[in-house]
Amino acid sequence: MSVSILQRQSTAMRRIHPSPSVAIVGATGAVGAELIGCLERRNFPLSRLKLLASPRSAGRTLTFQGRDVVIDGLTPMSFDGVDVALFAAGSGVSKDHARRAAADGTIVIDNSSAFRMDDDVPLVVPEVNADTLGTHHNLIANPNCTAAISVMALWPLYRENKIRRVIAATYQAASGAGAAAMEELRASTEAHLTGRAYEPRVLPHPYAFNIFSHNDTVDLESGENGEEIKAARELRKLMCAPDLRVGITCVRVPVFRAHTIAMTVEFERPLSPDQAREILGAAPGVDIVDDRNANRFPMPRDATGRDNVLVGRFRADKSDPTGHSLALMVAGDQLLKGAALNAVQIAEALMK
Ligand SMILES: NC(=O)c1ccc[n+]([C@@H]2O[C@H](COP(=O)([O-])OP(=O)(O)OC[C@H]3O[C@@H](n4cnc5c(N)ncnc54)[C@H](OP(=O)(O)O)[C@@H]3O)[C@@H](O)[C@H]2O)c1
Repeated sequence: MSVSILQRQSTAMRRIHPSPSVAIVGATGAVGAELIGCLERRNFPLSRLKLLASPRSAGRTLTFQGRDVVIDGLTPMSFDGVDVALFAAGSGVSKDHARRAAADGTIVIDNSSAFRMDDDVPLVVPEVNADTLGTHHNLIANPNCTAAISVMALWPLYRENKIRRVIAATYQAASGAGAAAMEELRASTEAHLTGRAYEPRVLPHPYAFNIFSHNDTVDLESGENGEEIKAARELRKLMCAPDLRVGITCVRVPVFRAHTIAMTVEFERPLSPDQAREILGAAPGVDIVDDRNANRFPMPRDATGRDNVLVGRFRADKSDPTGHSLALMVAGDQLLKGAALNAVQIAEALMK
């Protein structure tokens, strides 16, 4: 059964001014840096760029289109005259400022988890559910990076053959935990290789040559961590699939950038690896990397700095003899499709 996108509501949408004034909140962070880069390389037609961060960074400069832009400390007045604000400074900052800025007329696209599951806030990946932008009230949420990258592979398949169940394991990079975690990976690896002690400051466990369960808070009752909970519920919201069953194990690995996800997907009807390859080969924002001869499949090094999400390693799940289940791997730069690029694509969709 193909899934009708008409299930979703669509009303007149408030669009972005053709030459908007844009603010980045959290401009000095890992996502903030990529937001600046995406606006620059996609020639986003902004009239003015305002860079905001904590008071610690006020007065520093960052470069945009060859010019120095001075960073301002964020205050409630920061959004005066701002048409679009791209928030990337954590949930607390978003909770403190985003709804007020939206109420005052700024269109806010928020990278944090603060509002993603709120009924009045569309959670958007443009290739999947741009139609839900019609319901926005000046506040739009960008999904969790694991959900955003996974949905790029799952949605095109789901449209062709409804998915009943997803079992996934993630291999998540340092960059998903911000600029300080990337530095911790670099410094702790250097210390390890030179025989020096290194006390973790950002992540809860030694990061060099180690893997550990995702650092988000563990729910003591269910045993799930926050990343697992977010990924599952956001996938359901993005695909408008409330009954989708998701079992996911999220793990941090010592990779600088780009998340990899191994998944097994159970469909309503049988689906062959060739059919999946063909469907995803025609999907926007997806590149197939599936070379069995060369044993080359999606890897974080190949996904780093790349807009498209890599998908491959299609094979039948031998544990399901009915032919309804397929295994595959996905790798995506979560600072791009999992955060900054997706946010800028949302802004672009609001200008069309
Ligand atoms: N990293 C990812 O892959 C990813 C993916 C999806 C979503 N996100 C979300 O995006 C947000 C940013 O993540 P990140 O990885 O970029 O974190 P990050 O590297 O730690 O950067 C945090 C940014 O927030 C700013 N900030 C902190 N406190 C502030 C305050 N009180 N007022 C204004 N700015 C403040 C910091 O400014 P200073 O430099 O001045 O401290 C910095 O610019 C988070 O909500 C995260 O969950 C991240």
